[in-house]
Amino acid sequence: MTVNVGIIGTGVMGADHARLLGGVVSGATVGAVFDVDRERASAAVASIPTARVLDDPLALIKDADIDAVLIASSDETHERFVLACLGAGKPVLCEKPLAPTAAACLRLVDAEVALGRRFVSVGFMRRYDDGYLELKRMLDGGLIGGALLLHCVHRNVRAPDGWPSEMLITASAVHEIDISRWLLGEEIVAASCYRPRRSALVAEPTQDPQFLVLETASGVLIDVEVFVNARYGYEVRCELVCEEGAAALDEPATSVLRRQGAESRGVARDWRDRFSGAYRAELQDWVDGIVAGEARGASGWDGYAAIAVAESCVAALESGRRTDVQLEARPPLYG
Ligand code: NAI
Repeated sequence: MTVNVGIIGTGVMGADHARLLGGVVSGATVGAVFDVDRERASAAVASIPTARVLDDPLALIKDADIDAVLIASSDETHERFVLACLGAGKPVLCEKPLAPTAAACLRLVDAEVALGRRFVSVGFMRRYDDGYLELKRMLDGGLIGGALLLHCVHRNVRAPDGWPSEMLITASAVHEIDISRWLLGEEIVAASCYRPRRSALVAEPTQDPQFLVLETASGVLIDVEVFVNARYGYEVRCELVCEEGAAALDEPATSVLRRQGAESRGVARDWRDRFSGAYRAELQDWVDGIVAGEARGASGWDGYAAIAVAESCVAALESGRRTDVQLEARPPLYG
């Protein structure tokens, strides 16, 4: 079976996913695309002969020839499109965030629970990164004992001027929130957010960097540095400190240059550079799951929980106080 995928939103991420689904991922092809910018949609599939450029996203979702839908349009559009996919009973991979608010995510969780089957996967691709997978194997395999602390760093080169301070949490740190929940296998129950000295190179009013402290149900403490104007490159770090050892992400394989008395190695330019393998593996697993009749990867519940924690972080940023995370009860559909 070849899974015929429809893509909604063909900006940076959607175009990249189209390229992978159209030529790299096995068992898949791109059948149709839609973007409010039609030219962008056409350009994204210029080298994919099977792909039609449609004028209506809901017609794309309902199209009898489209087996599954990938949503990579801007955040505020996700809820409507995911809901339409659920209405059509089609598997959907929605880029993070599942929806911009926990309340909206919960509406999607409720709609999926009502169908009694998982259709939704959320694009938290780090779960497919070799380094994170190895950390999880070490922890789950009992190699280093129980987890005590998790240190995370998330640095971007540059964010647009005037980025709202909460975007550092909802757009960037949300990846750390998801990967921490996944790695540790438990929920985050409280969040604090500190405001270090602002970088003088960042336009007001963005509070950059920020420092989060998250607490899990069992008492593991997670600290997250998020700095989206680090200038020198894109970097993600993660170190897990356990009872019998510590394990950290290593630098992804690069070459070391020794020249004129100095040694240097490259730093990733952005997330696509750093996580290219993870995006590919995520799409392959999504497609393989569709063929096998199951939804894989981060679930609708994971999408909801990540945003609920992010909202508590934003509340903590605004109040300066430790803030509890209020999660609904997890429906049995999500294990
Ligand atoms: P982008 O701005 O490059 O692309 C968004 C596209 O959506 C644009 O082409 C725009 O015309 C289109 N669009 C806007 N409204 C639409 C609508 N109503 N219907 C159809 N298309 C519409 O943004 P980017 O970076 O590609 O992000 C897309 C999504 O992916 C966002 O939700 C973002 O949060 C997420 N993302 C995920 C990342 C990850 O690591 N998993 C990394 C970067 C973004």
